[in-house]
Amino acid sequence: MDETSSESMSESSGEQPKPQPDRPPRRQRYAGKNPRNFSEKYKELRSEEYPAEIVKIVSHGRTPAGTHRPIMVDEIMLALRLVPGSIVADCTLAYGGHSTVMLKAIQPNGRLIAMDHDPYELAKTELRLRSYGYPDESLVIRRMNFAGAAQLIAAESPGGVDAILVDLGVSSMQLDDPDRGFSYKLDGPLDMRMNQMRGRSASQLLSTWSAIQLATILTDNADEPNAKLIAAAIVLAHSKQPLVTTFELAAVVRCVQHLECTGGYESAIRRVFQAIRIEVNQEFESLDTFLSQLPTCLKPGGRVAILSFHSGEDRRVKQCFKKGLQQGTFASISKDFQVPTHEEIWSNSRARSAKLRVAVR
Ligand SMILES: C[S@@+](CC[C@H](N)C(=O)[O-])C[C@H]1O[C@@H](n2cnc3c(N)ncnc32)[C@H](O)[C@@H]1O
Repeated sequence: MDETSSESMSESSGEQPKPQPDRPPRRQRYAGKNPRNFSEKYKELRSEEYPAEIVKIVSHGRTPAGTHRPIMVDEIMLALRLVPGSIVADCTLAYGGHSTVMLKAIQPNGRLIAMDHDPYELAKTELRLRSYGYPDESLVIRRMNFAGAAQLIAAESPGGVDAILVDLGVSSMQLDDPDRGFSYKLDGPLDMRMNQMRGRSASQLLSTWSAIQLATILTDNADEPNAKLIAAAIVLAHSKQPLVTTFELAAVVRCVQHLECTGGYESAIRRVFQAIRIEVNQEFESLDTFLSQLPTCLKPGGRVAILSFHSGEDRRVKQCFKKGLQQGTFASISKDFQVPTHEEIWSNSRARSAKLRVAVR
């Protein structure tokens, strides 16, 4: 008897179908001992349900999929000197790791104004932060580019805020999700946009760049020593057959002959991905706009901490702080950048290249 006839029999005899007991979802099957794909990492992606699994992953110096481990938290909290009632802006909310600690420190009566331009991650983070039960009005969250932070702060806290945090670059969630196209270690669409609702993907932009333009991007955004050689190879390959996946782009770099580079081909590929990502998201332009308006965002005595991961970013922050000190818009700036402790780098390799600079209005 097939299923259809059995259903029609129970209808005709007047019996109600039995309610099915609630069953936990079946464990996902994957080839081999460990999950390989992002979507298979179901224990990591549902971290609240599997705390022991998360502790194990973190103790191996890795970041659980779908999360981000905040960097230099103690140093940032020391620098920002938050107290109950402080008003603080987190310009790069992402997973909300820093925001979670800051929200706690400003209770009661404090306010956190947080922004990020990644619509996908922002929605999930807002749900998580609101679930902590702080008063609704203590948390303002906006999907936006931090280039517009001055306008948001002027509207939400006229006269400026007590503290600002900017933690530049991409989040681990963006990096680890192959669908976002940021990582050369995972195959996915060649996209690289932090905000996929705006702009053009890396693959689309490749069609608009000449070899000379791409070489400039590789030099300016990642100090690539073989910029001309690599750019010529990428533009030629893309003109024959558009590069639409991350593995296709990485494969072209791997095939360039006579690369002279420290760190070998993998380092060259990492630099190419970094340079293109910075261009796709116009990261330096956003940072320049933000820095030019930064002093107006802070109350007198207000403090700003900026965490950067790349010499191009750090150079901009350093110059802005120095100029602000000379012109009197900053009362003091950190003499040099701070770096994470060895313990932090050992327990989280993504902290490796972090540099923290602090200024006081
Ligand atoms: C390194 S993560 C921040 C991690 C965060 N501090 C945490 O603890 O979870 C950087 C975040 O900044 C966001 N971002 C980068 N540039 C941005 C910009 N110009 N405007 C708004 N958000 C930006 C990215 O989308 C990403 O979510």
